[in-house]
Amino acid sequence: MPFTLHDRLFVLTGAGISAESGLATFRGSGGLWNGYRVEEVATPEAWLADPELVWRFYSMRRRDALAAQPNIAHIALAEIEQQLGNRFYLCTQNVDDLHERAGSQRVHHMHGTLFESRCVHCNVPFPDKALYTAATDLPLCLQCNAPVRPHIVWFGEIPLDMEGIYRELDRATVLLVVGTSGSVYPAAGFVHIANQRGIRTVYVGPEEPLNAEAFDETVLGSAIVALPTLLKSLSS
Ligand code: OAD
Repeated sequence: MPFTLHDRLFVLTGAGISAESGLATFRGSGGLWNGYRVEEVATPEAWLADPELVWRFYSMRRRDALAAQPNIAHIALAEIEQQLGNRFYLCTQNVDDLHERAGSQRVHHMHGTLFESRCVHCNVPFPDKALYTAATDLPLCLQCNAPVRPHIVWFGEIPLDMEGIYRELDRATVLLVVGTSGSVYPAAGFVHIANQRGIRTVYVGPEEPLNAEAFDETVLGSAIVALPTLLKSLSS
């Protein structure tokens, strides 16, 4: 048993946890969008060069996420949170809202959220589920008329509330990582921080991540099978 109900659990999720809900991962098969790699559309440079392309990409992702439903891996995390209360912290790299829709309360979206936008000038995020797919359609700020961008952390930008993340990681006793390839930092480095602090580390996913050697334990399998089994064994 990698951990018990007395532990303080820090969970990091990636695209893999939403894969069985029908949302494509970034680096697997189907990881391309219209022939673009994510690094080509999720950058400040892409936004400056072609905001219409960037908005088409995020509009498609909004549409797909709206149509998707949480799966039993999302639900298993929401259920274990009920038992652990504030000894549970969920940090996700995902920008979909499937954790919230499964019932998770303590979710931090370190890479931003799909259903918020913000003015590039005012910088205040606001709820936004609209799809913007044509150049003539692109949103402008109602206050200052500057362009409105997705509230997403792009490559080269700093993830949200890193201070809060490190504080939670510092006091955790277990780091559970689910469905991420371990290729994007700083999230891929959480396991190394955990190792320095003596925190136990477990990875769940169908294949080994790039940083697999850093984990104490790897449970190979789809999140919808492996995660509920792992978490159920805690409460029995
Ligand atoms: P990746 O697409 O890099 O990796 C997805 C991972 O999910 C892989 O390791 C798969 O093995 C795993 N996977 C696939 N199916 C699964 C399943 N059914 N159950 C569990 N795991 C499964 O996605 P991330 O690691 O999340 O950043 O990508 C990290 C960041 O790179 C994203 O947040 C995004 C992206 O570019 C930004 O947009 C800033």
